[in-house]
Amino acid sequence: MRTIESDQNIEKNKKHYDKLYANYPIGNILYWINNLDNFLETAITTETSWFALYQGNFRDRLRGSKVVEMGCGDCVNVGIMAALGAQVFANDISSESGKIVAKLNQACDFDYPITFIEGDFLKNELPENTFDFVIGKAFLHHLSLSLENEFLEETHRLLKKGGEARFFEPAVNSKFLDAMRWMIPIGERPSSLKRRAFKEWKRNDPHPDRTFSSRHFKKTGEKYFKSVEIIPVGTLERFSRLFKWGEQKNRFRRWALENEKRLPLWVNKTFTRSQLIIYKNL
Ligand SMILES: C[S@@+](CC[C@H](N)C(=O)[O-])C[C@H]1O[C@@H](n2cnc3c(N)ncnc32)[C@H](O)[C@@H]1O
Repeated sequence: MRTIESDQNIEKNKKHYDKLYANYPIGNILYWINNLDNFLETAITTETSWFALYQGNFRDRLRGSKVVEMGCGDCVNVGIMAALGAQVFANDISSESGKIVAKLNQACDFDYPITFIEGDFLKNELPENTFDFVIGKAFLHHLSLSLENEFLEETHRLLKKGGEARFFEPAVNSKFLDAMRWMIPIGERPSSLKRRAFKEWKRNDPHPDRTFSSRHFKKTGEKYFKSVEIIPVGTLERFSRLFKWGEQKNRFRRWALENEKRLPLWVNKTFTRSQLIIYKNL
């Protein structure tokens, strides 16, 4: 059942993202699509979200597959997946995402033009048992917990037997690290120690107050899917924040993402910054 809290959450997200993606310049996406191999080579070795989402040979499994990306946002990933030969459906509550998709379809010679579906994912009337992949990149944590349950039920309905949901999400598995994180100001976000300013910032922030713990995603996923896998990503990479933008930062990120896999699992589980969540319909 849709709650008032869920509706308010969707409204707040729409307002925020319509503003963010308004007049989004697609030049970068076109450049990356036209230099696909170079783009992917860099992105999947240095950027946590791309490193995580494209694990397990995802790139090669896309050709000819039917994919829906929920919360496609700036549409970079839907553009790349379409350029890799997937039949892509893109969903977002922001109408601005739809404008980006229209421009991409016009500018690119995709095997299958991207289909944009505007609105809350549950208002979609996509047929059941249709998709090889349901994708979400930094999407689930935007949903209130009740909305997330509805979404996972919908994901289960949309996936073919043998299909796979892949979600890249932030991870907060240590209360201590979480408290530290809020204390450090970033961009427009003030330190949690500045209580009044922090409260004001939070009022406008589109994220609902909820858990991002790996344990939560495991437990919730098990309600709907037979197979649940959570892969921690970013235990060492999180320290790249200490570097300025540039080649040195990229070198560190590449090294960190490659080497953190060697840490004991309990270290990665506790200190990871983000996670790849894989749910399968077996
Ligand atoms: C953090 S952004 C991520 C965008 C993109 N996936 C990326 O990686 O840059 C979250 C996106 O989810 C969308 N969103 C939030 N709630 C939604 C809902 N109920 N249904 C569909 N999209 C939603 C927002 O409009 C926004 O574009």
